[in-house]
Amino acid sequence: MGIAENRRWLRRAGEARLEYGADYNPEQWPREVWPDDVRAMRAAGVTIVSVGIFSWARLQPGPEQWDFAWLDEVLDLLHGGGILADLATATASPPPWLTTAYPEILLVDQHGNTVWPGGRQYWRPTSPVFREHALRLVRELATRYAGHPALAAWHVGNEFGAHNCHDYSEDAATTFRHWLRHRYGTLTVLNRAWGTDFWSQRYTDWGQIIPPRQAAAQINPACLLDFQRFSDYALREHYRAERAVLRKLTPAIPVTTNFMVMPGVKRMDYAAWAGEVDFVANDHYVTPGPQARDELSFSANLTGNLAGGQPWFLMEHSTSAVNWQPVNLAKQPGELARDSLTHVAHGADAVCFFQWRQSRAGAEKYHSAMLPHAGEQSAVFRAVTDLGKRLAALHEVAGTARVPADVAILFDWESWWVAEQDSHPTDRLRYHQEALDWYSALLDLGVRADVVPVGSNWERHRLVIAPILHVVPDYLADRLAAFVDAGGHLVTTYFSGIVDQNDHVWLGGYPGALRELLGIRIEEFGPLPDGVSVALDDDTTGTLWTDHVEVTDPATEILAGYRTGDQAGRAAITRRAVGSGSAAYVSTRLAPAGLATLLPRLLEPAGVASELPPELRGRVELAVRDGHRFLINRTGEPVDLGVDGLLPANGVAVIPR
Ligand code: GLA
Ligand code: GLA
Repeated sequence: MGIAENRRWLRRAGEARLEYGADYNPEQWPREVWPDDVRAMRAAGVTIVSVGIFSWARLQPGPEQWDFAWLDEVLDLLHGGGILADLATATASPPPWLTTAYPEILLVDQHGNTVWPGGRQYWRPTSPVFREHALRLVRELATRYAGHPALAAWHVGNEFGAHNCHDYSEDAATTFRHWLRHRYGTLTVLNRAWGTDFWSQRYTDWGQIIPPRQAAAQINPACLLDFQRFSDYALREHYRAERAVLRKLTPAIPVTTNFMVMPGVKRMDYAAWAGEVDFVANDHYVTPGPQARDELSFSANLTGNLAGGQPWFLMEHSTSAVNWQPVNLAKQPGELARDSLTHVAHGADAVCFFQWRQSRAGAEKYHSAMLPHAGEQSAVFRAVTDLGKRLAALHEVAGTARVPADVAILFDWESWWVAEQDSHPTDRLRYHQEALDWYSALLDLGVRADVVPVGSNWERHRLVIAPILHVVPDYLADRLAAFVDAGGHLVTTYFSGIVDQNDHVWLGGYPGALRELLGIRIEEFGPLPDGVSVALDDDTTGTLWTDHVEVTDPATEILAGYRTGDQAGRAAITRRAVGSGSAAYVSTRLAPAGLATLLPRLLEPAGVASELPPELRGRVELAVRDGHRFLINRTGEPVDLGVDGLLPANGVAVIPR
C-alpha cells in the first residue's frame, strides 16, 4: 500500500497540506513545559510530531508496571492543539530492567563481546525474548491508543539497523542457519554458492555454519554477502512482527519506519523495505563538503523513487548543527528552508526535524532543534516559524507526484555491499560516491535524473546510467540487453557486470555479464594508486581505476582514449550502437567535472536535453512535481530567473506549471 492509497496520516479529509513537525520527547521535560510546547508548536505551524520513540522505560517501568497517564496527557494536549501524532511503538531502546533481567537480548559484536546497554538500540534483532517483550509493549500501546483522535500513524522502532544491524550472537547464528536453509535447501547448494572448496571451508552439517565472526584471514565473501542480506532481513522481520500487531489492532492506521538514505549508511536494502511500509519515511542529515547540496538532493530523489514517485515523509533532518560529526557546523541563513524545500521538491509531503525542543541533558544536548536552548527569541526559531508559514502556503503541492525524468541512475544496495568488500583490486572504490558524481554532473548540466532502485521499472527512461553495477545476475543482464535492444541507452562504468548473485566472477573476460552488450573485453583491471591520475584524449582526467579495454565488436566506437598511463593509446570510454539504442562503458573515475564533459555525448543520442535555459544550467536545480516546478539555488549568490524573478542565495522558488 503506498501513501497515495492510504493518506490517513493526513487525517483531515479533503484538506491537503504539507505536514510539519519533529520528534517530540516530552518525557525529557517537566509536565509544566508541555502546554507551552503545544502553544509554541502552534506558533511555529507544527502539524504533526513523532512521540514516544525512546519512551519504553517510562511506559513500562517494570515487568508488570505500566504508566500511560503521561502519554495520555501529552496526546490529549496535542489533540487539543490540533497537532497529529506519529506514535512510536517505543521499542527502539529497551529499559535497563529488561536488559538486566534478560542479558540474552544484548547484541554481541564480531569478537564475541557483549554490547552493553548505556547507549541505545543494543538489542539483538533475532532475540525471541526481546521480540516477546517488544510485541507486548506494542499490543499495550495499540490497544490503548487505537481510538485516540491524535493518532495519525505508527512509527515502528527507529532507524532500524542504525546501531544493531550486525549481531554475531548465538541467536543470530541459529536464525542465520534457518535463513540459509530456506535460501539454499541443501548444504550441497550452499557449498556451491559459497565456493567452500576454497580454503577448506566445505560444510557437512548446518550447525557448523556461524556468522562471520572475527577470523584469522579474509572471510568467505559469499558468506559475508549472505550475512549482510540476512542481517537486513532479520531487522525487517522484527519490523513486520510489530506491524502485524498494529495491523490487527488498528487496521486503519498506516505503519512506517524511518529510513536513513545517506552516504554512510549502506546496511539496509531500502528497496526491500519500501515494500513493507504504508508510506516511505526518511531521515537525512547533511554531509558537509563540496557536494553537500547535491547529496541532499540525491537522497531526496532516491527516497522519492523508493516511494514509487508518490509523496513521502521526511521524518528527521536538522534545523542547524548535528552533534555527531567531528566538527558540527551551524546552518547558514536560508539553509534550513532550502534543505527542507529540496526534500519537498523531490516529493516529501512532510518536513520534520530531530527534534522539537533541544535537550538539556543526554548525548544529544548540542544537537540543534526547532526550539533551541536560546528559546523562541532566536534566529533558529524564527527560521522555523517562517518555514511553517511557507509550507502552509504551499498546500497545493501536497499529494502531487514526482514528474519522472528522462534519465535514470540505477542504485543497487547489493552492488554497494559487494563492490566495497575487501580483497578487491582496490579498497578505495566508493559506490555511493560514483553514483553521486553522475548525479552532480547532471545537475551541473541542468538535466533532471531519477535515482531509482535497480529492481524498479527503469525501462521507461531514455538514458539509464548504472554506475558500478557490480552484481549482475543472469536476469539483470537479460533485462539490460532487452532495454538496449528496444532502443534504450545504457551507460555503465568500471567494475560493473563482474559477479553473479553469489559473488562468483563471470568468466571469459570482464565484464562478463555485460561483455557482449558493451562489445568490449577486459583481461586485467588497472586500478590506480592514490595520487595517480591519467589523462584522457577528451581532456578529462581519470583516477582510481583504468581497464585494459579491447574492443570486440565493430559497432563499438571509442568515445575517448587514454593519453597517459599504462593504458595510453587504448580505449577509455566506449559505446556500442545497437539499433537505435546503445551501451556505453566508462572505464575510469571521472568525477563530476569530467562526467559533465562526457555526458552531452551520451545525452544527445538518447534525445535528452536540459529543461533549463543555458544561463541557469548548473546554477539552479530543477525538480518537478505535478503542478509545480521547484528551482533551487545551487550557488552562494542570487540567481536571476528572468520572468520568474530573483532567486536569493539558498533560495527555492516554487512555480506553478
Ligand atoms: C537519528 C535518530 C535521532 C537522533 C538523530 C540525531 O536520526 O533517529 O534519534 O539521534 O539521529 O541526528
Ligand atoms: C600466501 C598464501 C596463498 C595465497 C597467497 C596470496 O602466499 O600461502 O594461499 O593466499 O598468499 O597472495
